[in-house]
Amino acid sequence: MEKRKIIMDCDPGIDDAIALAYAAAHPEAFELLAVTTVAGNQTIDIVTRNALDLSALYKLNVPVAAGMVEPIIREHHTASEFHGKNGLGDCTIPRADAEPEKEMAVFYIKRLLTELPEGEKVTLICTAPLTNIGLLLKIYPEVKSKIQEIILMGGAVAGGNVTASAEFNIYVDPEAAKIVFKSGLPIVMCGLDVTEKCALTRSQIQKLSQSQNNQIAKLCGDMAGYSLANGNKFRGQVSIHDAVPYMYLTHPEIFKVQKVVLDVDCSDGESAGRTIADFRWWMHEEEEENIAVMDADASKFQEYLIEAIYELGEKVK
Ligand code: RIB
Ligand code: CA
Repeated sequence: MEKRKIIMDCDPGIDDAIALAYAAAHPEAFELLAVTTVAGNQTIDIVTRNALDLSALYKLNVPVAAGMVEPIIREHHTASEFHGKNGLGDCTIPRADAEPEKEMAVFYIKRLLTELPEGEKVTLICTAPLTNIGLLLKIYPEVKSKIQEIILMGGAVAGGNVTASAEFNIYVDPEAAKIVFKSGLPIVMCGLDVTEKCALTRSQIQKLSQSQNNQIAKLCGDMAGYSLANGNKFRGQVSIHDAVPYMYLTHPEIFKVQKVVLDVDCSDGESAGRTIADFRWWMHEEEEENIAVMDADASKFQEYLIEAIYELGEKVK
């Protein structure tokens, strides 16, 4: 695959943390220019501290810029019940001697994109509420020419996890999601339709946690183990939602996609935050078309994710 310049917009968050480990294990695929954070799974201070500490632990040492403290319009609700008070399943990692950039995420991304050499573009990989990206595109639409693609974990063609019809990242800030979906940029949506099945089993999680001489494997096992015990105890497996956009780029062959035109229900009713997936793509202009990732080979996902986690652990020893 072509090596891509990427910016990760995230809210670590257990699956964001594991997704970052996957990205860190694939420097041949990703040139990570920056990590930006947004209020989502936890408050902005917590997710930003986690991004700084994870970047140092994974020996990425990339700039981290803190983003929006709350959604554009709606009240922010965290997902503490799934990610714990510290956002990492109450697992502790060394505190990095690093602080976030002075500029807020929207302005940091805008400057980074503007300063890109002529002809170069960045892929935005978004695994959190789209508040930063929605505001970026609304305030600085000219940066679209510097964005190759937006690959996001969020939404669902059918179903939800916060309500019966809405997924967390879209539910938290549907207005931001609508701006992104209607931006005319190439969007790849990795929704619950595919991410729910991209999961680690109880025994795989236990094996990771038992890794005595691989600190990254133990950390990922312990974080996923928290999810297993909180909110997934009856499922016996934990979906690592946020790793899917990254694996879509490194292993597209394990995924099935469909053309779709995306929109979002921004009402206040019971379908608030629902992704509206219109598969009648032939009734829309080409620039309106997006991609929905609909299915994956779950065992290949598990194999590639676990392999990357152990590889990173070996690399950072
Ligand atoms: O619905 C799953 C998504 O919401 C993931 O990005 C998880 O980290 C949470 O942010
Ligand atoms: Ca996330």
